[in-house]
Amino acid sequence: MRILLGVGGGIAAYKSAELARLLMEQEHTVQAVMTAAAQKFITPLTFAALTGRKTLTDLFAIEAAIEHISVAQEHDLLVVAPATADLIGQLANGLAGDFLTTLYLAFTGPVVLAPAMNVNMWQHPATQANLETLRRRGHRVVDPGSGYLACGMTGPGRLADPETIAAAIAQELRRRTDLEGETVLVTAGPTEEPLDPVRFISNRSSGKMGYALAEAAAARGARVILVSGPVHLAAPRNVELIQVRTALEMRNRVMERLPDAGIVVKAAAVADFHLSKVPDQKVKKTAARVSMELDPTPDILAEIGRKKGDRLLVGFAAETQNLIQEGRRKLESKNCDMLVANLVGGSEVGFESDQNEVVLLLRTGESIPLARAPKREIADRIFDEVLKLRLALHAEHGR
Ligand code: PMT
Repeated sequence: MRILLGVGGGIAAYKSAELARLLMEQEHTVQAVMTAAAQKFITPLTFAALTGRKTLTDLFAIEAAIEHISVAQEHDLLVVAPATADLIGQLANGLAGDFLTTLYLAFTGPVVLAPAMNVNMWQHPATQANLETLRRRGHRVVDPGSGYLACGMTGPGRLADPETIAAAIAQELRRRTDLEGETVLVTAGPTEEPLDPVRFISNRSSGKMGYALAEAAAARGARVILVSGPVHLAAPRNVELIQVRTALEMRNRVMERLPDAGIVVKAAAVADFHLSKVPDQKVKKTAARVSMELDPTPDILAEIGRKKGDRLLVGFAAETQNLIQEGRRKLESKNCDMLVANLVGGSEVGFESDQNEVVLLLRTGESIPLARAPKREIADRIFDEVLKLRLALHAEHGR
C-alpha cells in the first residue's frame, strides 16, 4: 500500500524514521512529509534515504505548486507520527499553512495519528478537545505510552512504539475496503409523530450513532443507504440519504430499499406509538385536559426480522434498566443476528452524546462489551464484529 508519513516537530521525530523503516520492510511504499519544526529535529535526508523518495517539505516549491493534491490522491493512508499538540490543533481546525496540513485537507482516506508531547500538554483540555474532534471525524488515534519523557516529567506523552503504530495502520488499511461490494442500510435519528399540524411526539435521539455507522460503512467501501428521521447533522460523504419524518414513512422507505441491502443496522429510535387520525386543525386549549388514544407504530425491525432472508440484521436496544436481559429478549423476538444494547437516561452516553458505551449481544450467546468511546469508534467496532459474524455464517450455512 502507499502510505503518507507526516512527521511533526517533536523530540520523538527520530522514532518515525524507525516507523518508516518498518513500513518499508512490510512492503509498503512510504512518502515522508515533514513540517518545518520536524526538520529541526531530524533531516529530510534521513527519510529520503530510508524510503527511496524525496521528502516533501515545501508547499511553495515551484514544481510542487499543486503537488499536495496529487500526492493526496495517490496514497492509501496518512499517518502522522509524532503528532504534536500544535499539529493536532491545526488538523482539528482545518488550518492549512504548510505541505502536511494542506495535504491532510486534500486527503480522503484513513488517517492514523500518533501523538507525542509533554504530559501536561497531553492532558490539557484543548489538546483533548482537538483529539475528540479528530476521533469523531473517524481518525484513529494511537494513544501515547506512559513513562519518563524527554522533558524530565513522567506520565503519558511518549510516542507509541513503531510496532504498535504499524499494527494500527494495518487494521485501518484492512477496514478501508472490507465492506466493498456490500450494501448497508442504516436507520438513524428519532421519528416525529404528529398530534396536530403544529405538535408532535418524538424522543431525544440526535442521529449521531446512526450517522457514525453510515460514515464508517462508507469509509470501509460499502454502498450506504441512510434512512434518517429529522436531525441536525450534515449528510455523511458518499452516503445516499433518505429523509423521513414518521415511523410509518421510515417503515415504507426501509421496506422499499430492503431488497438492495445485505446488512441492515437499525440505530433509529422509532416512536412506539402514534395518533392514527391526526386532526387537520390545531387542537385548541379549550378544555383543562385533553386525552388522545395512541396506536402502536409498525415495528420495522421485527418486520425485517420476519423477511430477513440471508441478510445480516443488527438491531439496537435503548434501555434504562435490565440492559442485557431486555437486549437478549429483543435479539430473539426480532430475529436479529446482533443486538447493540446501550443504557440511556444518563447524560454521558446514549442519546445526544458524542460517546457511547454498548454491549454487543450475538445470536451465538456471546456478549462483547465495548468500553466508552466516540460513536465513530463504536461504529467501526460494530462493523468489525458484523464482518466476523458474516464469515462465521458463511462457514456454517454458506450464507
Ligand atoms: O441518536 P443518538 O442521539 O446518537 O442516540 C443513539 C441511540 C441511543 C438512539 C441508539 O444508540 C439506540 O439505542 N437506538 C435504538 C433506540 C430504540 O428505539 O430502542 P428500542 O429498544 O425502543 O427499539 C429496539 C429496536 O427496534 C431498535 O433497533 C429500533 O430501531 C427498532 N424499532 C423500534 C420501534 C419500532 N416501531 N420499530 C423499530 O424498528
